[in-house]
Amino acid sequence: MSVSRRTVLTTAAGAAVVGATSTPAVAAADDRIPVPALRTLRAAADYAVEKVRTVAPSVTAFPVGTKFEKWVYSQNGSWVGGFWPGTLWMAWLHTEDHAFRSWAMASAEKLAPRQYDTGTHDLGFLFYPSWVTAWRLTGDDVWRTGAIRAADSLIQRYNPRGHFIRAWGALTDPKNAGRVIIDTMMNLDLLAFASRRTGDAKYLDIAVEHARTTQRVFPRPDGSTPHVFDFDPDSGAPIGPNTVQGYSPTSCWSRGQAWGLYGFTTMYRRTGNAEFLATARRLADFAVRALTPDHVPVWDYRAPQQPHDIKDASAGAITACGLLDLAAATGRRSYREVALRLLTALSETCLTTNSARAEAVVARCTRHRPNEDGIEISLPYADYYLLEGILRVLRPKDVDRAIDLSSV
Ligand code: GLY
Repeated sequence: MSVSRRTVLTTAAGAAVVGATSTPAVAAADDRIPVPALRTLRAAADYAVEKVRTVAPSVTAFPVGTKFEKWVYSQNGSWVGGFWPGTLWMAWLHTEDHAFRSWAMASAEKLAPRQYDTGTHDLGFLFYPSWVTAWRLTGDDVWRTGAIRAADSLIQRYNPRGHFIRAWGALTDPKNAGRVIIDTMMNLDLLAFASRRTGDAKYLDIAVEHARTTQRVFPRPDGSTPHVFDFDPDSGAPIGPNTVQGYSPTSCWSRGQAWGLYGFTTMYRRTGNAEFLATARRLADFAVRALTPDHVPVWDYRAPQQPHDIKDASAGAITACGLLDLAAATGRRSYREVALRLLTALSETCLTTNSARAEAVVARCTRHRPNEDGIEISLPYADYYLLEGILRVLRPKDVDRAIDLSSV
């Protein structure tokens, strides 16, 4: 951004624009932000951190989703335990209030037993926004060591015959042994982190192999993806697409598409592999084309009732973060413009602002439509990614400090 642009925006929007004009950690496509959008995003971030501040003293475990607007908790963190401490870290960056930092560390500490958990692929979701961020923001090596142990647990799930990381089930359980899901793309950055911190390439090598396999079998010619792809776990031979959380094997679960486009962008930044960037763009272009004018994704872009179907605001928040990353990686302003529209739409139509009961920030999220589980509720990853996305716009340097927005 030129000096004159900074001056114009600062004059037009006053103090509210200061954060938005700090130098991004990576080259932004174009960081002009219309003043009304800037006001909306800043108000949403302020609302989010005040909601978190109010609720945090009563939060003793990990929020997994709401029932009639109140958080329901998991004691061990399920797959979502990274998002509450991650949200607290983001709140600390936005406010510099040390209460958020203390809450973030106390919450992250409760995840410690999970660093040895070889029974899930979700270790990136669990340990990146919590422990990797804790290490980056505090410098305390306890967090780095634990995150690397979690990466050691994750790579045990690698199947060298099929070149994939198994998603679900205990390693001793043959059920689901050949099941790969698009969500795993978001767990790979923990492996990239472990390779950078240890100097041992084995973690990133496995991440790259998994991403190559995902790239080969998931994207359809139009850039949409299924939720699941099954392999024969013994031979490694591909079987075919499937779904668990989407409508069908031929549909496109919107949150899965969001995990994919964000995950491939991250893998491009960590490797410089142009094919990962091209894949991220194909997935992103499909998601952008599938958006309804209200910019709140339907739960599955190919559900029979779409575009008039149940919403998943969490897919919108994750998509926005991925598009902001993709805009920086490609220099294409259009991705950033869609991301800003997503974030402002979520801020204007999906927040819990009119409810005195609500404990979450974002409403209208859907957890598992085929199971009729969590239809248009609040989910902790929607709150986390909304705040990450807004702060990527308002405070890119701070978000870089927390989660590392750099490219190789
Ligand atoms: N990774 C599980 C989900 O997105 O619901």
